[in-house]
Amino acid sequence: MDAAKLRRRLRTIAEVRGTTVRTADQPHRQKVLFCSNNYLNLAEDDRLCKAAVEAIQKYGWGAGASRLICGTLRPHTELEETFAGWVGKERALYFPSGWSANQTILTTLPAKGDLVLMDRRCHASIVDAVRTGEADFRTYRDENDPRLVRLLAEAKYRRKYIVTESVFSMDGDLARLDVLAELKEQFGAVLVVDEAHGLGCFGPTGAGLAEQMGVLKKVDVLTAPLGKAAGCAGALAAAPGAVIDLLINRGRPLIYTTAAPAACAAAALTAIRIIQNEPQRRQRLAENAAYLRTELMKMSLNIGQTASQIIPVILGESEKALLWAGRLEAEGYFVTAIRPPTVPKGAARLRLSVQYAHTKEQMDSLRRVLKELAEQ
Ligand SMILES: Cc1ncc(COP(=O)(O)O)c(C=O)c1O
Repeated sequence: MDAAKLRRRLRTIAEVRGTTVRTADQPHRQKVLFCSNNYLNLAEDDRLCKAAVEAIQKYGWGAGASRLICGTLRPHTELEETFAGWVGKERALYFPSGWSANQTILTTLPAKGDLVLMDRRCHASIVDAVRTGEADFRTYRDENDPRLVRLLAEAKYRRKYIVTESVFSMDGDLARLDVLAELKEQFGAVLVVDEAHGLGCFGPTGAGLAEQMGVLKKVDVLTAPLGKAAGCAGALAAAPGAVIDLLINRGRPLIYTTAAPAACAAAALTAIRIIQNEPQRRQRLAENAAYLRTELMKMSLNIGQTASQIIPVILGESEKALLWAGRLEAEGYFVTAIRPPTVPKGAARLRLSVQYAHTKEQMDSLRRVLKELAEQ
């Protein structure tokens, strides 16, 4: 891994203040953060912290058991009911992480004799879950890939699932959920959408890209990891009541794990209310993202097809991505180099992520350093 420049190391952050951090190895230096998924700056919001503290005082810190034993506390159910109502589904279920939500859903619902079709850009948590499951699976390039229609038309499968992210986590491009919703209707498939990077950032009420594209009703299982724009932890999944009941009865990754602390659910409930009531946050985020995308495009950097707050600067070799990340850090910007296997070989990159609280000055000075690097 060393030879291929693929070895990874954990960096300890000693202090976080909105869009700036101090790393433990250089505590005297403040660096501007451009790689956090805390898109709406809710992670540091006082209202979330207060909700968490109140829940700790009432329910203690740890939940004490799995959801099915005695770990289902009032904040969990309140959060689930609120989310289900928001996205117009019968029921919802709160998981300790997005990873475990995808594991539970994608190893429980698709079964032997079924076929899962997943976008090849999907996150590792989806890919690994589908691989672990018992259904056959195939990937498709994008929503216009003829393979998708061909496979949907295959008669030998009992049930077909289409699985995608809404906003692709490493590329920032958007899934054509409208196309998938039509295909799902045409072929009677089940549509599963992971809104990890869409929730809070898209849609008239912030419910995500499916809401923005007007296809929320056609999504059968909607997953919303809460560690990104919601600034929390854990993940919600909303679906018909019978599906949620099946997950509770058969979903081993949920059944056999300790419930997330009540404080996490209480903070998440507050985050949802803020997302619903403060549309100015996602408006400003969208403006910031559009500004940085346009500026980087003018510099002829390869930012792929992004149309969101996730802006990849695709550099190619891992060595180059590490070099650019190192230079940025020396200039006071904290951006992690993303290398294979997280992205395909030869597509190492910086994954810039924009936040609501980034200032124009912060974006302009980042752009200046990137310009220097590009010119060299
Ligand atoms: C699309 C997507 N789904 C799921 C996850 C996993 O969520 P969590 O971090 O809550 O495990 C992530 C990222 O972490 C993601 O980007």
